[in-house]
Amino acid sequence: MSDNTIARNKSMTRFDQHDSVWLFGYGSLIFKADFPFIERRPAHIVGWSRRFWQGSHDHRGTVQAPGRVVTLIRDEGATCAGMAYLITPEVFDHLDYREKNGYLRLATDILFEDGSCTEGLIYIATEENAAFLGPAPECDIARQIAGAEGPSGRNADYLLGLAVALRELGKDDPHVFEIERHLQLLGEMNAEKDKDAT
Ligand code: BEZ
Repeated sequence: MSDNTIARNKSMTRFDQHDSVWLFGYGSLIFKADFPFIERRPAHIVGWSRRFWQGSHDHRGTVQAPGRVVTLIRDEGATCAGMAYLITPEVFDHLDYREKNGYLRLATDILFEDGSCTEGLIYIATEENAAFLGPAPECDIARQIAGAEGPSGRNADYLLGLAVALRELGKDDPHVFEIERHLQLLGEMNAEKDKDAT
């Protein structure tokens, strides 16, 4: 269930001598940056798609009822929109700890809205990690998210926060918005059931 990735991430020394590094956020980092940063800018990466394919038993679920959070899947020609943060390398200690359940640092090109590009970092959870859940129909993902809550809060709030943040950026993500739609339908069905029961 758990791969502790802290040691593997520490051995990724690629940017250690840099004063600052761009980190691309595509999940909760878009709407919740709990670390100091020098600057942040809307950005995107190419060749990746955001998917709710990573299990979460430490943040948005439990071992008994894991939630689902996003990771990045290789997808030639796709673009994934998010938010880039310019941070000092010390911030990686915090992120390595926070994301220790399967996420690994990876160097990649980050593209900004003015057309400029820089090499920076993403955290990804690949299918080799023990918490990886993989694909499922969006309606099933929504059902799993609706029933999950962990130390960082309700899994539904994570999904809804991400959907709101993407809309604020003016970005589409059919996978995220379809799960949001199913989650809203589930909420409406439950409200109807509660009404019938009273
Ligand atoms: C992100 O929001 O970009 C993120 C997702 C998973 C792990 C670390 C960061």
